[in-house]
Amino acid sequence: MTEDTQNDPQDAIDSQGERRREELDDRIFEHSAGDEQEGIPFVGAGPGNPRLLTVAGKELLEDADLVVHAGSLVNSELLDEYCGHAELVNSVGKDLEELIPLMRDAYEYGDNVVRLHSGDPAIYGAALEQMDALEHEGVPTYFVPGVTSAFAASATLRTQLTLNEVSNHVAFTRPQGKTLSPEEDHITDFVEMGDVTTCIYLGTHAVRDTMDRLLEDDHDPETPVAVIYHASWPDEDVIIGTVDDIADKVEEAGYRASAMVVIGDAVTGAGYERSFLYGDWANRGSSSESASESEASDD
Ligand SMILES: C[S@@+](CC[C@H](N)C(=O)[O-])C[C@H]1O[C@@H](n2cnc3c(N)ncnc32)[C@H](O)[C@@H]1O
Repeated sequence: MTEDTQNDPQDAIDSQGERRREELDDRIFEHSAGDEQEGIPFVGAGPGNPRLLTVAGKELLEDADLVVHAGSLVNSELLDEYCGHAELVNSVGKDLEELIPLMRDAYEYGDNVVRLHSGDPAIYGAALEQMDALEHEGVPTYFVPGVTSAFAASATLRTQLTLNEVSNHVAFTRPQGKTLSPEEDHITDFVEMGDVTTCIYLGTHAVRDTMDRLLEDDHDPETPVAVIYHASWPDEDVIIGTVDDIADKVEEAGYRASAMVVIGDAVTGAGYERSFLYGDWANRGSSSESASESEASDD
């Protein structure tokens, strides 16, 4: 199919959605994450450091003829290191009408095509709409997960996002803006819950607005906040503060993009209790094995 005969991507999204409602995709039961599959893989590049790419991702990149990558959040070091002979195309500034024929035509020509997203493609990656548009045109696709930036941030902070007696839940969220209305912004709700670690993507430019809203809603100004710029990159920077003072610190540093904002007591890693897993449960014997399976997975 040439560019001229390309389907409207919105029609493709609607029709794939309709199909999904009617029947499950057989491939769900035929393949596991990490399997090599037929089609164009949508690969998570990880947060930046090339060492944080998965083995599956590395192998696919090494075999690729065309890599369509997500611009500035995919580290050029990773492209240099693993995409030796591939043609590289930056997807920034290209719409679906341009991207889909580009990937489809290369795939139909017989090239190994990889679509490389930053972090994990399933988090704020807009991957599914590209996959649906490709599938609609007969090009199979699949996900290869990556390390999302919130996980790089927690590793940098040397803490856990869930921590016994401190944080039982994690919210991956983004602030209100062009994509999200004020009613859809749930950051203050997550912080209100108290035992949630709130990881804000796409919110570096909005740190002051976000903190102002938390203060207006009477949240504790001393709640810990960390802003990790370019987690795992050579120029990574970590700013630690509170709801009250983090905006001044981020503005002073001059960051407007490419940072993860983490709110909650887990940021400091202080105040947690030892877990049951390596306490009482460790010695409870084989009779409670099934309990172990269901509960131990929590830690
Ligand atoms: C379009 S989203 C893509 C997220 C990506 N799919 C992931 O899983 O990390 C881009 C946002 O992710 C966050 N981000 C991506 N890479 C980052 C990194 N290395 N350090 C900190 N934040 C990062 C920033 O908040 C940025 O605004």
